[in-house]
Amino acid sequence: MKVRRCTAVVIEPRENCRFDLGDLLSGGNGLVRERRWLALAPHLEAAQPLSDDEVLLMGRFSPDAWEERQVPLDAAVARLLQCGLLIADVPASGPHREADERYRALRWWPLAAITHHAARWDGVDSVQSMQRLGTDNIAGLLRACGTPPPATIEREAAGPDLRLPRSAPGALEALMAQRVTCRNFDPDRSLEQDLFSRMLERVFAAQACVRQGEGVDFLKKYTPSGGSLHATEAYLLIQRVEGITAGLYHYRPGEHALRPLPAPVLPLQQLARDALAGQHWFAHAPVLVVYAPRIARSHWKYQHHPKAYRALMLDVGHLSQTLYLSATDLGLGAFVTAAINEVQLEQAFGLPPMEAGPFAVGGFGWRAEQQEIAELDPNRAVW
Ligand SMILES: Cc1cc2nc3c(=O)[nH]c(=O)nc-3n(C[C@H](O)[C@H](O)[C@H](O)COP(=O)(O)O)c2cc1C
Repeated sequence: MKVRRCTAVVIEPRENCRFDLGDLLSGGNGLVRERRWLALAPHLEAAQPLSDDEVLLMGRFSPDAWEERQVPLDAAVARLLQCGLLIADVPASGPHREADERYRALRWWPLAAITHHAARWDGVDSVQSMQRLGTDNIAGLLRACGTPPPATIEREAAGPDLRLPRSAPGALEALMAQRVTCRNFDPDRSLEQDLFSRMLERVFAAQACVRQGEGVDFLKKYTPSGGSLHATEAYLLIQRVEGITAGLYHYRPGEHALRPLPAPVLPLQQLARDALAGQHWFAHAPVLVVYAPRIARSHWKYQHHPKAYRALMLDVGHLSQTLYLSATDLGLGAFVTAAINEVQLEQAFGLPPMEAGPFAVGGFGWRAEQQEIAELDPNRAVW
């Protein structure tokens, strides 16, 4: 049988700390620290615990060169094969080998792949977690985290400061001054279809397509994109847009069209709240946008590239700012959040995590008349 190591793996020495009453009663401080090795591999759903010996054994296998092994295998190799950290050329290893080959074909830089994979949330309620820790308010944050680093810094000067002239605000400044993250959407008001359409046109539509060769198309959009690749897809969870059936959609930037997707298992409002990790203040937005970069499009040019993932994150940030400003210009509220349950979104939209997993969720729609959840509007630009 031929055996190799999986394509990418990071072995983390993780320490968990838990409270133990027995330890406290027997004179300890009640905290028990446990250390173990965990193998993080992007083709496997869960991190795999390893023994000291297994850590060393993993290091002896190549991810590329198959090694001939006698059957029956020794127990340690058999266990690593069973959990998918080693791959073999036999049918029993098939599902792990296919997952590993799918991952390999995407040409990730391994550390980015592992970060992307390990940072995904599944069923997290970030609001409840903050409430439990008491960090959902400034007093609690200060108690838990102390005083933050200052809002601005003073570098040691190599000369006198050069004071810059303040300019008279123009139209762009007026627009930017009105941009306030919206946490109070009107749960009853639908968005007019022409406003919805205009939003998508501004943020995600292609303004032109430049053909550089057969199958080599570059889109021009209002927003910049690393390598001109525009790898980020917009998936929509539409709750209230006039004339459009509520549901899940994929936006087609060339056609400026929506493609309906299969209905989710959960009711839309429940899915929205779950996907937003319990952030109910965003879940009422009439339109939610899932920003989901297509990894293969980016890695076509940036193969195994340490900056590719960063560029994709920056792309999403740029799109989000265009969405914010477009919404503000139309009198709408907008938001973005990275506190999302990627796993629930992947399942609902049919997104393979390492190929097209979500990076963030944004949204837009009409604001409510009352501000119930705090927004940062010190200049009273909106409220
Ligand atoms: C990358 C990013 C992630 C954010 N995540 C959240 C979030 O999880 N929950 C939330 O209520 N606001 C979130 N926000 C909004 C910020 O809290 C908001 O931008 C900040 O308070 C400043 O307010 P402003 O946008 O009104 O200027 C996020 C903003 C950005 C850019």
